[in-house]
Amino acid sequence: MKLQFYFTVIFSLTSILTRSQELSQLNVEDIYKNLCASCHTSSAIGGSLKDGKWKYGGSDEEILHSIKNGITEKGMVAYSSVLTDEQIRAIVVYIREMESTDSVESTELDISDKVLETRYHTFKVETLTSGFRTPWSIAFLPDGSKLITERLGPIHLISSDNRLDSIPIKNTPKVIFDGPEGGMMDIALHPDYEKNGWIYLAFADGWRDEMGKSWSQTAIVRGRIRDHQWIDQEWIYKSDLKFYMQSGAHYGTRIAFDDGYIYFVIGERGVMGHAQDLNRPNGKIFRLHDDGSIPKDNPFIETPEIPKGIWSYGHRNPQGLTIDSNHNVYATEHGAQGGDEFNLIQKGKNYGWPIITHGINYNGQPITSITEKEGMEQPLVHWTPSIAPCGLTQYIGSLFPNWQNDFFVGSLRAQELHRLRVINKKVVDQEIILKGIGRIRDVRTGPDGYIYLLTDEPARLIRLVPSEKKGE
Ligand code: HEC
Repeated sequence: MKLQFYFTVIFSLTSILTRSQELSQLNVEDIYKNLCASCHTSSAIGGSLKDGKWKYGGSDEEILHSIKNGITEKGMVAYSSVLTDEQIRAIVVYIREMESTDSVESTELDISDKVLETRYHTFKVETLTSGFRTPWSIAFLPDGSKLITERLGPIHLISSDNRLDSIPIKNTPKVIFDGPEGGMMDIALHPDYEKNGWIYLAFADGWRDEMGKSWSQTAIVRGRIRDHQWIDQEWIYKSDLKFYMQSGAHYGTRIAFDDGYIYFVIGERGVMGHAQDLNRPNGKIFRLHDDGSIPKDNPFIETPEIPKGIWSYGHRNPQGLTIDSNHNVYATEHGAQGGDEFNLIQKGKNYGWPIITHGINYNGQPITSITEKEGMEQPLVHWTPSIAPCGLTQYIGSLFPNWQNDFFVGSLRAQELHRLRVINKKVVDQEIILKGIGRIRDVRTGPDGYIYLLTDEPARLIRLVPSEKKGE
């Protein structure tokens, strides 16, 4: 028995070594299938690696340690001589992904009338409006009505009693929407909206060439709405046309205002290296005056080649952005497979993508084995496996006093609402508030103190309403 066991180990080791040449070509899924899967099902000698149970420790570091050094006395060889550090790290992320896909509930939670108890508040979920498709963002008008953008282009008016107006806003900018991403995205009111009426839109701007291919880039305009018409449009940001791309990916984006400035995001548009290339707008967070002019104290103002609106760089695809009362800018960012981030955005700083990341590529190829580097910022929190964070708000309101100043992060993939408490620029507390209600596309604190969510699949506007604890 024992002899046969060693035999198996030696046999599998030599067959691994002869294959190591090809290994560098393989993606992580193939590596896993070839090297690991045979011993790691629930009925095999190594046991399942997806059941969330860990004998030798379940942190990323401990799993990494198990793979690198093996569990030799039980029959698993040390893989440090077979696989590179990058590959081993990619496998850890891959194991984490498997763990989560097995556990994510895909069924839609029947939320109406359900009282949900969380650490600091008990609440109900109320569905307000549906009837639109793939919503992206919501803005609250002073009279209690709301504006909702739909990815395909239309902007809808929702009355103060939450009825969907049958007539969408006309003459809004044409958007490019070819793939799963792009189209009409963020909508935000100028902080002095009541005086100036300005509404800002972020969208995929572009054109279709004679071959039928579309060229696009994230752009920002402002305008006003009167009688269901988009009027008075002005450009706030439009890239040089040489930066328009055929890619339909990673536009970002969100808009946030602070003290006369507008911040917004352009994702790296699917070309990783562009995030580090300061000569391009891709993979950057921008800061401009609210009229689109360039602030004199922006970090790269002295360098002629660099687009002068750039505030920070090294971003992949941020889709959550908010600014607190102390002018701290926070953003959430989609990583690749794993490595989603919550960042404090600071002037001129490099957020590392794709040189450092806690995630791997979707095709399973490792991007890099390093997760930190001198001169590059670390996220305040990173999520592996991916939750696909979208929408970010800081709660300031009276209905949920124990959540005051906490951040709420929506998620597409995990269909979760996360609450983060930040003290002294550190996340000290994290809680999943809601799960399985559909992909959360936007999360906002309403002026009335409710927390509003936009979900797609199913597309609807919902809100969290404080409730008494069960049995009280
Ligand atoms: C020849 C069989 C075999 C192969 C191939 C193998 N393992 Fe294992 N593995 C084991 C055994 C046996 C254990 C110890 C199980 C126990 O003690 O219950 C183990 C343990 C582990 C653990 C620790 C699990 C825990 O509960 O803490 C990890 C992680 C792991 N293996 C990952 C891998 C990965 C990744 C690969 C592929 C690169 C791999 N293994 C290939 C047999 C194998």
